[in-house]
Amino acid sequence: MPTLLPAELKLWQSVESEIKKILSSYAYQEIRTPLLERTELFQRTIGEQTDVVSKEMYSFLDRKDQSLSLRPEATAGVVRAGIEHGLFYNQTQKFWSMGPMYRYERPQKGRYRQFHQVNMEAFGFEGPGIDAELMILTSRIWKNLGIDAIQLELNSLGTSESRKNYRATLIEYFKDHIDSLDEDSLLRLEKNPMRILDSKNQEMSELIDSAPKMNDHLDQESKDHFDDLLERLDSHGINHKLNHRLVRGLDYYTKTVFEWTTDKLGAQATVCGGGRYDDLVKQLGGKDVFGIGCAIGFERLVELVELSGKKDQNGQPKIYLVAVGDQAEAKSSELAELIRDRFEDCVVELNQDGGSFKQQFKRADRSESDIALILGDEEIENETIGIKTMREDGEQETISQHKLLDSIAEKIGA
Ligand code: HAM
Repeated sequence: MPTLLPAELKLWQSVESEIKKILSSYAYQEIRTPLLERTELFQRTIGEQTDVVSKEMYSFLDRKDQSLSLRPEATAGVVRAGIEHGLFYNQTQKFWSMGPMYRYERPQKGRYRQFHQVNMEAFGFEGPGIDAELMILTSRIWKNLGIDAIQLELNSLGTSESRKNYRATLIEYFKDHIDSLDEDSLLRLEKNPMRILDSKNQEMSELIDSAPKMNDHLDQESKDHFDDLLERLDSHGINHKLNHRLVRGLDYYTKTVFEWTTDKLGAQATVCGGGRYDDLVKQLGGKDVFGIGCAIGFERLVELVELSGKKDQNGQPKIYLVAVGDQAEAKSSELAELIRDRFEDCVVELNQDGGSFKQQFKRADRSESDIALILGDEEIENETIGIKTMREDGEQETISQHKLLDSIAEKIGA
């Protein structure tokens, strides 16, 4: 569970704020659900046989012997909250949330036991328009963050009915080749045969490639939905690749499933994953409400932004106040407040705990400030202040304290 340090959080914050702007421009509203939910919620939604539920949850008994789990993902909690607060009655909803998730996985680069997701969920939309919009939205996120090494892969799992038929066909096929299955796949065969398609075992690759395809078992409704979606993606110029082996690791999906993957991050290639879950709300005791969503893995996204070379874009102007002497220190604190009043976007840092001019300038330099303001006995006596542009190593000017705010405005272009 990594600690995020101030130096890396700068980029995190600028990526967060870019994403929030985009989400809000597509009418998504924020929702915040608890980090803890009843274990049963995840068992019923994600599925007991999935790796996430069977091996990766942080679960414990509370003081009344109720089993609770740290959330491994956000969708289950959002659906629970929506049902509990009556948010799904005769209305459509679009929610986003951001925050930490917990999975007891084997940690490696790009895979952590505490990681963060940006999660989007839309409820009450039946047609493929919302599927397309979600992919257009995520594609805009990549574009605005300067990422181009990313590819959309998608598949349709069909309605639960067609899935059931496909499942039976798949079991039959793999049973005919039972000697070629590895240990993991043997376990999955009866419980979750579609997950065999997900196997990374090269020795089974041929067997899996020749397995019956979900696409050939789709009912007409799912087929039409998927074809319509593909047309919409084409007309928006969103490149995509059909991947018959894409089944996703969570059980609640129906019809469309998709992932955005990259070849820049090594083994942890999936930056975003999601799909439709048209049965989930009902299955949890709510109304029959259509649902679709996806989640972006924040650590992977930030890494990709870093690799694409587009760093912190919202750098705030920074001002450092150098003050030598008691009176100068008191004055600098007063001026700092005036600057904060006028320039809300500025970072204003005061030198604390004294030091010579030379020492304080060194600190101003280290703080990567744009402007240094200088106050000593002489400036206090004359009601002036020194001002110096740091980055271009500009000349120090002395100006009247009354002109300070205007002069800052000029220098930071405010
Ligand atoms: P997921 O595919 O399990 O889907 O996770 C989504 C993304 O979270 C992954 O593509 C990956 O980028 C990131 N992620 C997952 N596990 C880790 C980890 N251990 N370390 C770092 N990053 C990780 C879901 O969670 C679904 N709830 C998405 C969704 C929303 N489907 C419908 N609505």
